[in-house]
Amino acid sequence: MGTRGRRILYPSKKSSNPSKRTPNQHYDASVLEKISYPSPDAITHGAEVLRDGGLVAIPTETVYGLGADISREEAITRIYQVKGRPHTHPLIVHIGEISLLENISSLIPAKTYQLIEKFWPGPLTIVLKKQSSISNTVTSGKDSIAIRYPSHFVAQKLLKEFHKQGGLGVAAPSANRFGRVSPTLAVDVMSELGEYLDSTDLIFDGGASQVGLESTILDLSVETPTIRRLGSITCDQISEIIGPIEIEINARTAKFSGSDLHHYAPKARVHITSAGIKEGGFLALDGVPTPDGLTRLFSPRSNQEFAHILYSAFRKADREGFTDVVVQLPEGEDIAAAIRDRVNRASS
Ligand code: TXA
Ligand code: MG
Repeated sequence: MGTRGRRILYPSKKSSNPSKRTPNQHYDASVLEKISYPSPDAITHGAEVLRDGGLVAIPTETVYGLGADISREEAITRIYQVKGRPHTHPLIVHIGEISLLENISSLIPAKTYQLIEKFWPGPLTIVLKKQSSISNTVTSGKDSIAIRYPSHFVAQKLLKEFHKQGGLGVAAPSANRFGRVSPTLAVDVMSELGEYLDSTDLIFDGGASQVGLESTILDLSVETPTIRRLGSITCDQISEIIGPIEIEINARTAKFSGSDLHHYAPKARVHITSAGIKEGGFLALDGVPTPDGLTRLFSPRSNQEFAHILYSAFRKADREGFTDVVVQLPEGEDIAAAIRDRVNRASS
């Protein structure tokens, strides 16, 4: 059913077109109008928008994604335009049903099923050999494809409805401009991408993303399983199940988006030591004293909470006009490893 041009969930084209807005002025009513509460009717409409070739921003447990139907070439192309993302950076395909894996991948090693039994739905993306029927635009010409089954209830409801309407998969990169901070709230998506979205595109509000950092990416399309991005599911947790793995997250060895050295960055300069910084924002675990002259942004009480608020802290630093922000990196091999990875890239 065609829904382009039909607006059920948000009012006039005029009020939902924020082209005159500048980023970060995201608390006025006209901006919030584009954001939809995920009622059952809204979910049905959201799936229709996707099937019609529109874009839908989807809350997930990691970060918000900008979704498009992988069978709609023009929608996939729009994702790259809206994000300002180079075409050489492949997208992750999201599904809401494990059986659909076989329609997306041509080769599913047994290890895949061992992992998804434990971690799906959840923040683990698995790279497999791709089915030739899947568009090369989704994978930037690669013969492998990244696939993820998110656990957030809004993502799941939307994906299941999308499958019910005949859809196979939803490509969804993080819903931010290329190289910037991933959104963990619906208003962050609006402030990142609102001015680039069409009046028929949607943003669903699913609250704050619980994890706060992008999914762990594991490549099973190569001989030795290889971690391509650190996330909340750790290397130890994965190798406990499938044995030895390699870790290859260096920008020089892997040319993937998010593996670029300067990425996940706010406007403020990010530092990992306060030496020489006279004023700016400061983020560290609770109990770590704030250096003189700096302004505390948050005091997370665990590494999980640190990950959860990291990107909000970057956005807060920008909103408050700090030109510098200092992050005292947390220790440990849990999600702290992913935090250090993101902050190091943001600071490089
Ligand atoms: O948590 C997440 O994964 C979020 C939410 C929205 O699901 N999505 C996300 O997408 O972070 P994006 O596009 O920002 O990051 C996708 C990452 C990139 O580093 C990309 O290079 C990598 O996945 N990727 C995609 N396809 C790949 C492939 N075939 N082989 C290796 N890496 C791939
Ligand atoms: Mg991203």
